[in-house]
Amino acid sequence: MIDIDEAISASHTSIENGKAPVLSIRNLSVGPDSNSTAAILDDISLDLYPNEIVGIVGETGAGKTILARTLLNLLPSGLSITSGDVRLGDRMITSLNEKQLQSIRGKEIAFIGTNAKALLDPIRNIGTQICRVLQSHQKISDQEAWAAAISFLHRIGIVDAERRVKAFPHELSGGMAQRVVIAMALISQPSVLLADDATLGLDATVAIQVLDLIAERARRSNLSVIMIAHDINIIANYCDRIAIMRDGRIVELAKVTDFLSSQQSAYGKELMEVATTKTLSEPSITHIDSGPIALVEVKNLVKTFAGKTPGSEVRAVDDVSFRSERAKRWLWSVKADQARPQ
Ligand SMILES: Nc1ncnc2c1ncn2[C@@H]1O[C@H](COP(=O)(O)OP(=O)(O)OP(=O)(O)O)[C@@H](O)[C@H]1O
Ligand SMILES: [Mg+2]
Repeated sequence: MIDIDEAISASHTSIENGKAPVLSIRNLSVGPDSNSTAAILDDISLDLYPNEIVGIVGETGAGKTILARTLLNLLPSGLSITSGDVRLGDRMITSLNEKQLQSIRGKEIAFIGTNAKALLDPIRNIGTQICRVLQSHQKISDQEAWAAAISFLHRIGIVDAERRVKAFPHELSGGMAQRVVIAMALISQPSVLLADDATLGLDATVAIQVLDLIAERARRSNLSVIMIAHDINIIANYCDRIAIMRDGRIVELAKVTDFLSSQQSAYGKELMEVATTKTLSEPSITHIDSGPIALVEVKNLVKTFAGKTPGSEVRAVDDVSFRSERAKRWLWSVKADQARPQ
């Protein structure tokens, strides 16, 4: 078992340069309200330094998303922090009230998940949406904002920006929408960006553009990033340090360069082995469960957007509930002996 506290201080030496961390997570544990002993996050400690990109990897269910949500104090109902704290500079996020948290979310700590398109307003073109964000940050005319929106699209690599600025979200590809949303999040100049599988599902070229955009901002402006990814190659290319999570714990924390040459934990070694595996054989399928399980369950969903006149709103989804079931559950597995190192 590695000593995480030792690893935290060892991994900081060349990064911190005497600077205080932007975000500091100390002995953070999260569990279900009903059972305080079943930890979902278990004693997590991690510091994020100015301009640093820390990558988090780990298997499904390791607690990566719950960690990101805890950093915004935005846990799903039924879960709560059982111990520890999170500090943003000198403010303890875990003890702020909802109003104070709202002034932090999106402005000081931005979160980008997998489906960025869902964050865009479907009934307004993207130019109008970018203008709105720009004008909420600086006093500029509509005309100036529109010109800035076009140059903004150019800068994030969207070709034919003059035409695209008038496009509605449904007219954008997933990659374009993801870049627009990330760039819009960056207009607020947050000090921390939480990117949770932000490039999952994008094709490789677009994923690289999105990641380049994030990395460029981290290097050139005052942005620190927690980059959650399934792919160790992403971490290797973009991050300064890597944190490996398993069962709600950080089991290894190291500088990426050190990790790539030698992994301290058995799980870290396992992940590296998988990452360097060239080809996998056809997956085998095992039927493991025949009971009905919910694929999707939606309860009393309401989604509103601001209307055209001040104070009005469009109710796009009004109290929708449904449940979709699948009769069987299948487990896809690749036998370890079928994987061949490169
Ligand atoms: N609302 C909830 N109530 C109870 N448990 C939850 C809730 N949301 C998530 N969990 C549990 O918390 C654990 C961590 O989930 P989380 O979504 O953080 O995993 P993850 O590492 O992000 O996985 P993935 O790689 O699939 O995104 C899982 O065991 C999950 O079942
Ligand atoms: Mg997740």
